[in-house]
Amino acid sequence: MATANAPSVVGPVPFTDVCGARPGPVPPPNDHDDDDASAAALPGDARLRLRWYQGTWVPRVCVPGVVAIRQGSFAPRRGDVVLASPHKCGTTWLKALAFATMARGAYPPAGAGHPLLRLNPHDCVPFMEMLFADSSAGSRKMGALPSPRLMATHMHHAILPASISNNPDCKIVYICRNPKDMLVSLWHFGRRVQPDLAFSDVFEHACEGVSFSGPIWDHVLGYWNASKESPETVLFLRYEEILLDPAGNVRRLARFVGQPLSPAEEAAGVAEDIARLCSFEALRGLEVNTAAGSGSLLFPNGAYFRRGQAGDWANHMTPEMARRLDAVMEEKLRGSGLSFA
Ligand code: A3P
Repeated sequence: MATANAPSVVGPVPFTDVCGARPGPVPPPNDHDDDDASAAALPGDARLRLRWYQGTWVPRVCVPGVVAIRQGSFAPRRGDVVLASPHKCGTTWLKALAFATMARGAYPPAGAGHPLLRLNPHDCVPFMEMLFADSSAGSRKMGALPSPRLMATHMHHAILPASISNNPDCKIVYICRNPKDMLVSLWHFGRRVQPDLAFSDVFEHACEGVSFSGPIWDHVLGYWNASKESPETVLFLRYEEILLDPAGNVRRLARFVGQPLSPAEEAAGVAEDIARLCSFEALRGLEVNTAAGSGSLLFPNGAYFRRGQAGDWANHMTPEMARRLDAVMEEKLRGSGLSFA
């Protein structure tokens, strides 16, 4: 696997400190006014602004980046860690946890100067699809980051380039969540740009496989199977498990990326410090993460912190809807050893 030269500073460092403003979603162009050839050529769901790409639903604005990454714009480096997730499953949290864990040498998690106290987690860890929407800028910016680098993606495992999915030098940390809570979170998020979006529409589409990161069962199965086949390169995490034991999952993460906590760090309570720094309450309370926090053009930083709990689906779904989605998931995941019951 091709390996680029790494700068001398040790990573990860906050993306925006090195590369300037984070790449983010831009207001989608008019649906009848496609200005991007790669997105325009693909069939898609106009209302959800998705494109059906290689058997996966991809937000239309991400298609150019996905195509560029798959065509080789991303140059892997030994030590790269890719955070993968379906939308609204705790990506922001995982970015914070992974950044705080991997950068703890340079930035002690209890320190007053920690980057996560002044930057949103999305400022620290970029989304690859956004970054590579401009492939030459993406390559340049990724190249400027010191190793080990941290980056994130919502791509299905099936459409990752081999430089990520078949590269022993690159690790993948995946997070998923009960799909019922994911859909509720997605609906709340989507209403920020489509105020008339009905939850019943989001739900119906998702049961048919059409959603951000959809079909959702294929997204989780791809990474689940990869984690079974290659546990040393793919770590499979669940939002609900981290809620139950954040410090324990910090330790798992640290071991997985080859930076286990030392006895001195254990004695000093470093795992607990990281869990506290990255907790929903701590991050949401920071000025940078309030509604006023700049974020992207479409979503202020505050949009990434809503409720932060498991089980909110019960406030939005009828028992019948819940049974239906559970049944769809059970059927699709049958025989895999994975379940969301
Ligand atoms: P809710 O909408 O259910 O509250 P993503 O980061 O993938 O977009 O996912 C967003 C979901 O993760 C939202 O869920 C958000 O509130 C929750 N979240 C964000 N930061 C979190 C944290 N530090 N701890 C727990 N949940 C968090």
